Amino acid sequence: MKESRSWNLLGEMIYGGDYNPDHWPEEIWIEDVQLMKEAGVNLVSLGIFSWAKLNPAPGVFSFEWFDRVMELLHEGGIKVNLATATASPPAWLWKLHPEIGAIDADGTPFSHGGRQCYTPNSKAFIRYALELTQAIADRYQDHPALVMWHVNNELHGNGPESYGELDAIAFREWLQARYGSIEALNEAWGTTFWSQIYSEWDEIPPPRKLTTGANPSMVLDYKRFFSDAYIDFYRKEAEILRKATPEIPVCTNLMQLYPKIDQFKIIEDCDLAAYDCYPNPIEAPGDFLAISADLTRSLTPDAPWLLMEQVTSQVNWQPPNTIKAPGVMRLWSLSHMARGSDGVMFFQWRQGRFGSEKFHGAMVPNAGPDSRVFREVCELGADLKKLKPVVGSTLQAEIGIFWNWENLWALETSDKAQVFNHTEQIQRLHEACRDLGLYTNFVHPDNPDLSRYRYLILPCTYLLTEAQSKALRDYVEQGGEILVTYYSALVDENEQLYYGKAPLHLRELLGCWVEESDGVESNDHNALCFEDGTEVPCGFICETVKPEAAETLASYRSNWYQGEAVLTRNRFGKGQASYLGSRPAERKGWADVLQRVFDLEGCGHGFAVQPDLDILTRHGAGGERYTFFLNYASENRSVDLGAHEGQDLLTGKALRGELLLEPNDVVVLAELA
Ligand code: GLA
Repeated sequence: MKESRSWNLLGEMIYGGDYNPDHWPEEIWIEDVQLMKEAGVNLVSLGIFSWAKLNPAPGVFSFEWFDRVMELLHEGGIKVNLATATASPPAWLWKLHPEIGAIDADGTPFSHGGRQCYTPNSKAFIRYALELTQAIADRYQDHPALVMWHVNNELHGNGPESYGELDAIAFREWLQARYGSIEALNEAWGTTFWSQIYSEWDEIPPPRKLTTGANPSMVLDYKRFFSDAYIDFYRKEAEILRKATPEIPVCTNLMQLYPKIDQFKIIEDCDLAAYDCYPNPIEAPGDFLAISADLTRSLTPDAPWLLMEQVTSQVNWQPPNTIKAPGVMRLWSLSHMARGSDGVMFFQWRQGRFGSEKFHGAMVPNAGPDSRVFREVCELGADLKKLKPVVGSTLQAEIGIFWNWENLWALETSDKAQVFNHTEQIQRLHEACRDLGLYTNFVHPDNPDLSRYRYLILPCTYLLTEAQSKALRDYVEQGGEILVTYYSALVDENEQLYYGKAPLHLRELLGCWVEESDGVESNDHNALCFEDGTEVPCGFICETVKPEAAETLASYRSNWYQGEAVLTRNRFGKGQASYLGSRPAERKGWADVLQRVFDLEGCGHGFAVQPDLDILTRHGAGGERYTFFLNYASENRSVDLGAHEGQDLLTGKALRGELLLEPNDVVVLAELA
């Protein structure tokens, strides 16, 4: 992983947004630069969807208008995050190579006019995209405004998985590289089932529309393959950019919980983690902001990251298109910085006049600068200037939650004891951690540095390899503590069940095994009963857990397995390993379980925990502490600062004793080393 604290070439908090000057005449560009200066903007992401304008015909490039924009921005002191502009192929390319279009699983082709409806398995598409990337790199590599490269846009975001002939050919090549021989593939996919045995590679179709469930091993490989196809495309563009400008950081905008692309894999070729965030304001946004930011931070946990896109007010594709009330944009923006972002960027700078996003919010709304939104944008710009000391500092998490895309894909293939929505399960668990004021990172099971975490949680870590199980065993042996939940460690990397008592490779570590997994009709169908009489409603899946060396912490309240173990704990080496055989119905239930399994004394922010009040500390390299207090509640909150005292970076006021926060208030307490 390219992890460094130095990707931020600006040396201050980054502020700006996507800039689409091709929608406007030059006089507006001039006004734009003036307004950007007024708002404190220092970076724009330029030209993301400008392929058709920059490259109007095969081999023909039109850069003069773009030169002028770059020059104006530079004169205004605005830096550029320059896009490779390859996110939306132009009409001429579709006409010349209709085969670039993605094909749905039922054979329906996607048409030109939306965006990203190409398949990355089209060699013609890649050739033209790289030609444009090269032309942009050649033209602007020495431009003084250039400080960051923005590859494509939300790769595999709107881009569907495609099931055409080109995809079939590329899939077979990918399979040959993975398995080496057709025999190995047959073995890995268990193709004796339903007579699926393949004799030649060209017999293998992509998992197109079928009468029944597809082979889950094949489905898992197709997801891996498609994620790899986009990552490979990213790498090809990044390679051109790195060759031209080795010192300029290269990134792309990722999408936090988005299921299609393996972000732990793509991050290996990114100089920073950057992401886009669009919570729905009417659905507990604090929780969504928290998990999204934490997941992005976890990609490069020792470096700051960047919020690449959010919206000032309305999101047109989220009906109802709700306005952010005054102060909400500021709260949300600073919440990202609290969790480690070194800046705030928006989609987009100026509200569009046409196209399907014209009712999407922007830094400059259609009403112009004399507007509530623009005034708030300017105020936020001024706030960010004051946060310069925070640049480069990081938030360190003490709890690791296992998360990886391969597990998600495997878990969500069909025909299990339940229909899993793994993201939703993770959200409930993360909410409980947030309620307890804990700091969490998401951790790939291959992470070589598990020991940095005081506790590890494995929620439904269905796919766990033998090597990953061994690493966990070592972690616990050395004193680590883990909580493993239902439906974990059941299959290998090919999605084949381990033969024997589950979870086979964790059985000794957990000191228990699982006999049966009951998919039950509701989330509070049963309950965990603790010896002190406490009951925690649970459901979704109820497993019959058989303790061996482990002690039973809670047993089932009802059903024919009433009284059987559901939560166990096993001391192993210097540590301990707990197993939870069912899903707590609510976030509070998760919190109860975490508090019983782990000793949380000294974990988290250390202030009194209050609902809807986030308290997060970033640490500087020299021992400085920057603690963000963010009030999401609709009433005032007061915090006893105890021994902490310092200065609020936003107001300059000295802070000690009792801190009062009104709704939407943010305070950043700076404590110098
Ligand atoms: C995404 C895209 C942007 C824009 C916004 C709208 O995040 O990257 O180009 O479409 O959504 O919310």
